[in-house]
Amino acid sequence: MVTLDQTRLPFEQVWLTLADVDACERAIRTMQVRGAPLIGAVGGYGLAFALRADAGDGNLHDALQRLLAARPTAVNLRWALERVAAVVTPLPVAERATAAWAEAGSICDEDVQCNRAIGEHLIRVLPRPAEAGRALQILTHCNAGRLATVGYGTALAPIYLLHERGVPIHVWVDETRPRNQGASLTAFELAERGIAHTVIADNAGGLLMMRGEVDAVIVGCDRVTRNGDVVNKIGTYLKALAASAHGVPFYVACPSSTVDMRLADGLQVPIENRAGDELTHVTGVDERGQVHSVNIMPTAGRVANPAFDITPAALVTALVTEHGVCDPSVSGLEALAKRRQ
Ligand code: MRU
Repeated sequence: MVTLDQTRLPFEQVWLTLADVDACERAIRTMQVRGAPLIGAVGGYGLAFALRADAGDGNLHDALQRLLAARPTAVNLRWALERVAAVVTPLPVAERATAAWAEAGSICDEDVQCNRAIGEHLIRVLPRPAEAGRALQILTHCNAGRLATVGYGTALAPIYLLHERGVPIHVWVDETRPRNQGASLTAFELAERGIAHTVIADNAGGLLMMRGEVDAVIVGCDRVTRNGDVVNKIGTYLKALAASAHGVPFYVACPSSTVDMRLADGLQVPIENRAGDELTHVTGVDERGQVHSVNIMPTAGRVANPAFDITPAALVTALVTEHGVCDPSVSGLEALAKRRQ
């Protein structure tokens, strides 16, 4: 499979060819591919590659565990791996690799349909600016767009759809320290489509909401637990608090594959701790276009880098899934789970 190396964006567009399970595992672990739905899709292909080499039960088990360990927080990876494994396990060994490949392809095809559906459902609930002609103001955190998925994105899906339909829209893009997925990736993909946007420091959102400059917040998610808690990129929780304080709707674009009914609440979700150099260093280009990474802190300082946080269900206006709007509660998620069966 071929995919953009997201560690090189926005400065260079380098296409990666992933041709074995090792390459898929490495791409997920090093965040050459990232975003919950995309790592699920790459994980599915990773398992298919592993089975091409050896489709026996031992290799199926080992490859699944290796891929699963590549990133701990987004449940889509587990969902995709278990989905492929469930299809191939009852089959004769000789048929497994082909079946795994087909299932990985279905996961990708369905992701695009799912994201479009999420976009359509979100459009129905988003506020409509009172004054005709004023752009709808959306704030988003991290990157839950085309780059994080197979197509359209989740949180950005309604933005793409509204833009395609000629609705004026402007996006406030949180820079999303420490890896800057907003400044590097969301801004990149919105610019590619000519969608008006402004990158802001992560701490600016509260002021904008207080001043009435945000109509709605839309974020993606890496895992939603049975009670409706939302685990997403670090900083999401503070945006939800600010949105709640200022009466701004806070929507979570949530493919049903991101719901984990096995966990009762967000505190049970494993939160990925990433390397400190994501905080101590920033990467950019100089005036000659050369990419550099520079240290911005005293080298002896201690840093902590939890990559995700938990937004309590009470702060979420609605989860918006491919099946429609879902209340962030046990009863809402149980009803959604029934639709998935
Ligand atoms: O660490 P990342 O860049 O993989 O984190 C991505 C996010 O937090 C996204 O918001 C989430 O995966 C949803 S993507 C549709």
